[in-house]
Formats: sequence, C-alpha cells, structure tokens
Amino acid sequence: MLREADTSDGGGLKRTLSATNLVTLGIGAIVGTGIFVVTGQAAAQYAGPALTISFLISAFGCVLAGLCYAEFSAMIPVSGSVYSYSYATVGELLAWFIGWDLILEYLFAVSSVAVGWSGYACNLLSGWGLELPPHLIQPTFDHVSGAGWVLTGSIINFPAVFIIALVSSLLLAGVKQSTRINTIIVVVKVSVILLFIGFGMSYIDTSNYHPYIPENTGSFGSFGWSGILRATAVVFFAYLGFDALSTAAQETRNPQKNMPKGILISLLICAVLYVAVTAVLTGMVNYRELNVDAPIALAIDRAGENLLWLSPFIKIGAIAGISSVILVMTYGLTRIYYAIAHDGLLPRMFAKVNAKTGVPQNATIFACIGCSLVAGLFPLHVLVEMVSIGTLMAFAIVCISVLVLRKTQPDLKRPFRVPFVPWIPLLGAGVCILQMVSLPWSTWLRLIIWTAVGLAIYFCYGIRRSRLS
Ligand code: ALA
Repeated sequence: MLREADTSDGGGLKRTLSATNLVTLGIGAIVGTGIFVVTGQAAAQYAGPALTISFLISAFGCVLAGLCYAEFSAMIPVSGSVYSYSYATVGELLAWFIGWDLILEYLFAVSSVAVGWSGYACNLLSGWGLELPPHLIQPTFDHVSGAGWVLTGSIINFPAVFIIALVSSLLLAGVKQSTRINTIIVVVKVSVILLFIGFGMSYIDTSNYHPYIPENTGSFGSFGWSGILRATAVVFFAYLGFDALSTAAQETRNPQKNMPKGILISLLICAVLYVAVTAVLTGMVNYRELNVDAPIALAIDRAGENLLWLSPFIKIGAIAGISSVILVMTYGLTRIYYAIAHDGLLPRMFAKVNAKTGVPQNATIFACIGCSLVAGLFPLHVLVEMVSIGTLMAFAIVCISVLVLRKTQPDLKRPFRVPFVPWIPLLGAGVCILQMVSLPWSTWLRLIIWTAVGLAIYFCYGIRRSRLS
C-alpha cells in the first residue's frame, strides 16, 4: 500500500497547471543548449550529417523512459519526481539514494545550461562591441586531462551566476507568473527554430551530406557507427528536461490524464524539431566547420546577405530559449528539495511554502545558491558529464521500478499503463545503462564520491530526523 501521506497534497502547493501548460513547461525545459550549441559540436566531432540518426536513437530511448515516467507520475501525483515514487514504493533509504541522485542531475543541469547561456550572452555582447573582463566570464577551476584540477586565474563565471539569480527571483514570484513568462519564451525559441528550418532549407548544399556517415578515424567514437553511438550519448543532453515535468505533478490539474500527455507530446515535438534542425544545419555548412559556440548563427551568417537579418533573432532566441531551460530545471530542483524535506530527510525549513505565492521559498533560495556556486566555479565539460551519468541512472531506475511495482503491487490503480511490459521498460533501462557504460571512469568516480557524501548525510542526519523515524 502507498502510505497516505505520500499522496496527500503535502501542505499548500497550488494545482494550477493544465496539459497545455505542461507541454509548454516541457518544451521550455528541453529545447536549449543542446540544440543551440551541442548539435554543431557533436556533428563536427563524432557523427557528421549522421547526427540525425543519433537524435532519433536518443529520442527512442527517451520515449521509453518517458512512458515509464508517465506511468509513475500518473499513479503517484506528488511533487518530487522519481524520489517520491520510490519513497512511496521501495522505502526510505533507496528513496534518499535516488533523491540525492536527482539533486545531482538538476543541480548540475541548471549549472551547465547557465554556463552555456553565459557563452552565448558574451558572444552576443561582443558582437555589439561590449567585452566583459576575461576574469569574470570563465570558471574558477578547470579540469585538464593529465594535469587534474587547475586554477584558471578567473574569479568567477559572472554571467552564469547572474542568470541563475534572475531566474530564481522569477520562481520566487510564484508558479503562475513564472509559467506565463516561460510560455512567451517558448513561443520565441520555437519560432526562431522554425524560421531557421524554413529559410535554411533553401540554402542546403546536398554535397554536404556526402559522406552521410563519415568514415571512422580509427578510434572509438570518432565518426563511423561508433561515432553515431557516442553522439547519441552526447545529444541525450538535448532531450533532458521532460522528466522535470513529473516534478510538477502536485501542481497539475487532473495529473492522471495530463501528466502522460504532457511528457509524450513535448518529447515528440522536440524530436521532430531536433532532427529537422540537424538536417538543415549539416546541409547548409559542412560538418567539419560546426565545432563553434553558435553553430546555428554560423550557418545563417554563411548563407549570405539575404539571411543576415535573421542572425540577431537567432542569437536572442537562443539566449531566451536557454533561459527557459534554466527556469524549468530550477523549478524541478526546488520541488525535489521540497519533497525530500517534507519527508524529513533534509531540514524541514526547505518544505515551508509561502502562503501567498504557493512557492517553497527556502528551497528556491537554497537551489539558487547551490547552482550559482557550481556554475560560477566549474567548467562546462565536467558539469555536462555529471548531468548525463546522474540522469541516466535515474532513468534506468524508473524503468526497472515500473517492472518491480507491476509484480509487487499489481492491484495499484494505474491511470496510465506502459504498453508492452516488460519489453518497453527493459529496453528503456538497457539503452540508459549502455550509455552510462560509455561514459569515462572519471565521471563514474565523481558519481561514487557524490553517492558516498549522500549516504553520509543520510546516516548522520536523515535517518534520525525523517518522518518515518
Ligand atoms: N535539454 C536541455 C538543453 O538542451 C538540458 O539545454
């Protein structure tokens, strides 16, 4: 049986979100640094024009995990994502383990996307002749292979800290207001992407598609089919965010119907956009030239005078788009803190909800401080790897949990059921684990350290303070 408190409304979050709000939140969370920045780099380094295949495989894996998320979030519509599901079904210690993993995913996702935002913003400003001092736009530390951690000489990545602080203040103003701003941004970024696809199409030079799958250079992951696979793991980042939706279950009207709809529709729209953008991008510019900060803007600039007017729109649209990813991800992080604190595994002050705005205020401020520090201090490549490993682990656990729960609690009411069980959850878990295995050992080591710190917190604090105890 589910413990009753897990499905209660948990103390004051307001049910304001509809299915359309969820799709908007979903696209707001998903389309960002991945498509605007990582696409070009992945095409140039790993897959060439065949990056479209990577996007399709990656979308397939996410849909499988998304279906499993949908079954869970419709069944147990509470704040806190997969953490709450596992608290309700598999017990406190494992729930804490998963919750701590989710904090890793969201904390590092917000931070890495903010670092991407910083790069784009600096690029735009410098185009206008406004150069920020170098010691305010780089991370404090870098990780260099062979040398380990080094000081860069920079004080902090200031624009990254700035955007996180700005977004957090929006969230503090209340869900409804934040959702409205998010909707406007989503319209802007989807329009920019559609403009790019629409106008870019007529500038495609089909010779750029030959060879469609560039020959492998001799090392694993560098073009050829292994390159396509590596690129799949890299562009997986571009789909992250749909799981943030499930953290809004407690604030959704009729979550049993709206939550599965929201997750699947937003994933589908993004997959179509990504494959189309990649096809146009690699058709307009040879893949070898796409390893830059703003590949889509580069393609437009290359198209010649007729498309020059589009360039500033693309840059501003990308900056706005990336901002909304930070918004939804930070939202997800605050709700995870809220849910964990509500169960007493983190200090209860994080579960306090502001009576007027319905926002967990302390959790939001805490999330802002944590993300600002990580984004300001550390380099993008380290952050992105951490996001990947944390998210893939969470996804794999969700897929497996669907199977376990079907066996252990077959009579639970399931408003949405994953079809073709056990094949879809098994395949979903398999795809995630395969990608985890392809990540380097150093990333695994960081995951192990993060987990050890989490267990120490649980045994020193959570176990004694939790609601269960
Ligand atoms: N999917 C998100 C992005 O691409 C993380 O920015």
